[in-house]
Amino acid sequence: MPSKASILSMSALNKVLYRVPNMPRQVDLMFTNLCNLDCKMCPKYFFKLKEKHMTFALFKKIADRLSGVEQISFIGYGEPLLNPDFFKSVEYGKKKGFKITAVSNGYMLGTRKVFDNLVKSDIDAIRFSIETVKEEDVGGHVGSKKVLENIEKLKKEWIRLGKKNKVIINTVVYKETHRNIIPIIEWAEKAGLDMVDIAHFNKLGAKIESVMELEKELRLYEKIEKRGFAIPVATLYDRYKGIRKMAFRFMKKCPMAFDDVHIDIEGGISPCICGLPTTIFGNVLKDDLKQVWNSEKFRQFRNNQEKICEKCTLFKLYS
Ligand SMILES: C[S@@+](CC[C@H](N)C(=O)[O-])C[C@H]1O[C@@H](n2cnc3c(N)ncnc32)[C@H](O)[C@@H]1O
Ligand code: SF4
Ligand code: SF4
Repeated sequence: MPSKASILSMSALNKVLYRVPNMPRQVDLMFTNLCNLDCKMCPKYFFKLKEKHMTFALFKKIADRLSGVEQISFIGYGEPLLNPDFFKSVEYGKKKGFKITAVSNGYMLGTRKVFDNLVKSDIDAIRFSIETVKEEDVGGHVGSKKVLENIEKLKKEWIRLGKKNKVIINTVVYKETHRNIIPIIEWAEKAGLDMVDIAHFNKLGAKIESVMELEKELRLYEKIEKRGFAIPVATLYDRYKGIRKMAFRFMKKCPMAFDDVHIDIEGGISPCICGLPTTIFGNVLKDDLKQVWNSEKFRQFRNNQEKICEKCTLFKLYS
C-alpha cells in the first residue's frame, strides 16, 4: 500500500501535470438560493436562479450518490442557515462520512435556536463572510457588532466543549475593502478563530465595478505576510507561488475546475458554482458523478476553460 507521504506527493505531482483526480475532492452544494441580505458585490440575481431551499429529502438522495467525494460545502446564492433542513442535512452528511463545511453571512447566529444547534452540531468548519469590522457599507458583508460577537461566542462555546469545529473568515478584496482586510485579520486573531481566507473579487455579475489594481493587491498580500500573524491567512497569491505557478499554467487555468464540482438545487452537475452555476453537464440523481466528472463535456471544458470562463476574475491575478 502506498504511504501517506507518497500519496501526498502523487497528488502534488498530479496538480503540476494537471492530471484530474478520479472524483472531485469537494462538492459545492447549492443548498439554498434564498437570502436575508442583498450584497452589491454578489452575482446572486445575475444568474437568475430558482429561489428556493434544497429539501432534506433531496439532500439525502444526493448525498447517497456521492461516494468517493471527501467534502461537501453547503453554499449557494443564498444563506444556508436559513434553510430549515440545514442541521438535519449536516448530521446526515456526517453520518455518511463526509467532511461538512458551510459558508454563511452569520446573521442567523442571532436566532437562539440556530446558534444552539450550531454549537451542538458536528459540522467540521463554518466560514463566515465579512468585508468590514465597522458598521459601514462597502458593498459586501458588514461584520455588525452583533454578528462579530456571535461568531466569537460560537468559537468560545466550541472550545469550552472541547470541540474541534473550525471557524474560518472569508473576505473579498476589492477597492472598497482593501483597507479593511488587516483589521479583519487582527479581529479574527484576537477572537481565537482558525483561519482567514482572502478571496479575489469576481466582477462577473457583481453590481459594483471594484476590481483593484493588481500591484496594490499584491502589496497587501506582502504586507500581511510580513506581519506574520499567528492566525493562518490564505490568499489567492499562495495558490500561485513557486511550483504551484506551474501547476496552474502561470495563472491561465483555474484550480476550481480540477478540484471541485457544483451540484445545483435540483441535482444538476455543473463545473463551478462561482461563475457557471447554469452550465449543466448531467444530473446526479440519474447520472453517475464519476462518469460525468470524467466525461468528454468536462474534458472539453477543462481544455477550453480560459475561453469559457473569460468573464470570471475569481482565480485570475491579471498582470
Ligand atoms: C455567494 S455567498 C453564499 C453564502 C453566504 N450567503 C455568504 O455570503 O457567506 C458565498 C461566498 O461568495 C463570496 N462572494 C460573493 N460575491 C463575491 C464576488 N463578487 N467575488 C468574490 N467572492 C464573492 C461571499 O463573500 C461568500 O464568502
Ligand atoms: S454574498 Fe451571500 S449574503 Fe450576500 S447577497 Fe450573496 S448570498 Fe446573500
Ligand atoms: S474561472 Fe471562474 S467560472 Fe471558471 S472554473 Fe474558475 S471560478 Fe469557476
